[in-house]
Amino acid sequence: TMHTLQDITDLRRTLDEYRTRGLRIALVPTMGNLHAGHLALVATAHEHADIVVTSLFVNPMQFGPNEDLDAYPRTFADDQAKLREAGCHVLFAPSNTALYPNGLDGQTRVHVPRVSEGLCGGSRPGHFDGVSTVVTMLFNLVQPDVACFGEKDYQQLAVIRKFVLDLHMPIDIIGVPIERAEDGLALSSRNGYLNAEERAAAPALYRTLCLLRDTLEQGEPAEAVLKMGQQQLAAAGFIPDYLELRDTHLNPVDGTTRRAVLLAAARLGPARLLDNLSVQLP
Ligand code: PAJ
Repeated sequence: TMHTLQDITDLRRTLDEYRTRGLRIALVPTMGNLHAGHLALVATAHEHADIVVTSLFVNPMQFGPNEDLDAYPRTFADDQAKLREAGCHVLFAPSNTALYPNGLDGQTRVHVPRVSEGLCGGSRPGHFDGVSTVVTMLFNLVQPDVACFGEKDYQQLAVIRKFVLDLHMPIDIIGVPIERAEDGLALSSRNGYLNAEERAAAPALYRTLCLLRDTLEQGEPAEAVLKMGQQQLAAAGFIPDYLELRDTHLNPVDGTTRRAVLLAAARLGPARLLDNLSVQLP
């Protein structure tokens, strides 16, 4: 049986009991509308702990004023059923007023310089402050031994690793590989915004990244390869937001970089799709 808890007091009481029994606790933070990508995080959490806590909270602080906070898909009953099926022990689903009793104005924020700038941070000002703040809050509430995050949101994972290190939080951060549809499209709650035609075009993002990776691994210069990628994405109907090659810590690549990551965000109709792929430079 899974406990579904809305209250901070109930959460603390339940988790204190597990902790007293010496059980290891894993946290999987989500915004709900769960798919196989989220469930892969829950499965990984089971490998690292005795108790799996999943949080479900559509965090208003990480949405910009013109973003999809109101439209974001909310499927609570389905999510609850999937988590029960996946053997999750605690579903923590707080209200906005439980986490932000005084609203967002005047709320303390966690800001991570450098790694939260550029890429998604460039197109979504304040987004990573919202993520860092709510994840810090969830870490304080749950006090997990480990927490699992998807590599799909590569920059988010890097930002979280950085504040956990800088703030001396005693939590192991586990990155989980991207779960994809059969045609290669990275699973995302926002894929639901695509109509049939857009959904058919969407895998071109992954296919383009694969082609660019292969070309880079053959030693072609990055500048030319990225330019070709921009053209391919535009030809497939995307409006590219960014397409970049960085080292694994998201620093710029130089002649000595071997392990790199290709990162892309692109609009397709109403959806903004994200993807990334690791590259072994010659
Ligand atoms: P959300 O978009 O719901 O994603 C929750 C977690 O699932 C994140 O760690 C994300 O990287 C991971 N995830 C999403 N799609 C995935 C896929 N296809 N394969 C593997 N993992 C995937 O990310 C957030 O919520 C929020 O920013 C949050 C961290 C919960 C803070 O509000």
